[in-house]
Amino acid sequence: MQRIGVLGTGAVGTALSNGFLKHGYEVTRGSREPAKLGDWLAKAGPNARTGTFAEAAKAAEIVVLAVKGEAAEKVVDLAGADALAGKVVIDTTNPIAPTPPTNGVLHYFTTLDDSLMERLQRRAPAARFVKAFSIVGNALMVDPKLPGGPPTMFICGNDDAAKADVRAILDRFGWATEDFGGVEAARAIEPLCILWCIPGFRGQGWAHALKLLR
Ligand SMILES: NC(=O)c1ccc[n+]([C@@H]2O[C@H](COP(=O)([O-])OP(=O)(O)OC[C@H]3O[C@@H](n4cnc5c(N)ncnc54)[C@H](OP(=O)(O)O)[C@@H]3O)[C@@H](O)[C@H]2O)c1
Repeated sequence: MQRIGVLGTGAVGTALSNGFLKHGYEVTRGSREPAKLGDWLAKAGPNARTGTFAEAAKAAEIVVLAVKGEAAEKVVDLAGADALAGKVVIDTTNPIAPTPPTNGVLHYFTTLDDSLMERLQRRAPAARFVKAFSIVGNALMVDPKLPGGPPTMFICGNDDAAKADVRAILDRFGWATEDFGGVEAARAIEPLCILWCIPGFRGQGWAHALKLLR
């Protein structure tokens, strides 16, 4: 059993926490206000815990960062670069700016030459960041069942062993994984969220995922 620390009380934190519990992991969920997770904790079973961001990071072997993009660097600070050092950090975040979408197209606060995950990696240099789960809605993150078969999860990061750990999780969660290289590939992977959201904002639903064909 691996101990997962999920930093985030939003829909992604809930979907992934429940998915890890379902697949036999232990989960400690973190927040600035852990008390707000009381209802979730009451139903989550014996392998679930809650704590501050720092407590959840410290307790974990693998950390999942599932917080608002604008707050991600701050949450890395709250978790503590020392607590994250040497650990796999699965980065689900997207750098969504507070401006409303234009004709269904989200705005980002990053540029195509500097992704959010590069900022996070600089913030906690000894953490082993892997981008994953950022390109699909939370409802499909765990055990996606789509008529077209298993969708593709695009991942990247500088540490090959960390990516192997994340690939093993994605295998269990029903994904085909494509490793697109080092942290700089987040400049291309993060904007896939913009693409994924367009059909939803245009009224065509949210029950789709991406697939790489060769
Ligand atoms: N929603 C989706 O389906 C989806 C899909 C793919 C990727 N993503 C990405 O996944 C991440 C999480 O999304 P989400 O929808 O689950 O939740 P969210 O509403 O984007 O984020 C909620 C979390 O952000 C933290 N947060 C917000 N403002 C903060 C601040 N000023 N300082 C510290 N922490 C702050 C909250 O901490 P507290 O618990 O302390 O309040 C909470 O844990 C985002 O980056 C999003 O772009 C979302």
